[in-house]
Amino acid sequence: MIEIINELRKFYRQKGIPTILDEGLSVLLQAVKDKQPTNILEIGTATGMSAIAMSLTCPTAHITTIEIMENSFLESQKNFKEFKMQDKISGVLGDSLQVLENIEGEYDFVFLDGSKSKYKKCLELIEPRLKKGAIVVADNVLFRGYILDKVECPKRYKTIKKYMREFLDYMLTDSKYKTTLYQVGDGVTVSEYLKGE
Ligand SMILES: C[S@@+](CC[C@H](N)C(=O)[O-])C[C@H]1O[C@@H](n2cnc3c(N)ncnc32)[C@H](O)[C@@H]1O
Repeated sequence: MIEIINELRKFYRQKGIPTILDEGLSVLLQAVKDKQPTNILEIGTATGMSAIAMSLTCPTAHITTIEIMENSFLESQKNFKEFKMQDKISGVLGDSLQVLENIEGEYDFVFLDGSKSKYKKCLELIEPRLKKGAIVVADNVLFRGYILDKVECPKRYKTIKKYMREFLDYMLTDSKYKTTLYQVGDGVTVSEYLKGE
């Protein structure tokens, strides 16, 4: 099944629809495998590729995934149906910051892959719902090499750079988290939440 997902990811990427890079996906799925979570929260569904891959990796988990674009949301709903995962994956259409204001439940695994300038704001809203020992994975934390100044950042990406750097500093220095930064793909962090109930 994961081979089908890889083919689909290639197909969507060729159409210009974003999906996590291979190396980042490997880090994400290893974290899911290690944690065996019960409740996963994903920000940024796109067409549902990472959600389906996480569900294949941990079939007992329930996944809530938030997407702002209606056409991507509808495509992901179609894909969840095709993979017979409608009961395991709940898609929510809306702006993550608004949806998270009213989110319920507790989460032991979070995948941040939505708006690249809103990771920290999203996480602040999620934190009250994080279980102790929860894992937070964030993709694109090195954003094209701009975050660690390996590549000069064009003007149009300066805002993303500022907010992503703030997020990365927070994850690497705040005592609430124990974070590993993987310099693969577009940069991925895997953090353990040390507080919570
Ligand atoms: C990198 S893509 C997600 C890829 C997906 N996780 C995967 O690997 O297949 C980012 C997605 O976040 C969505 N997004 C951007 N801003 C958002 C927001 N404020 N709230 C919810 N989704 C948002 C975009 O529309 C896009 O589909």
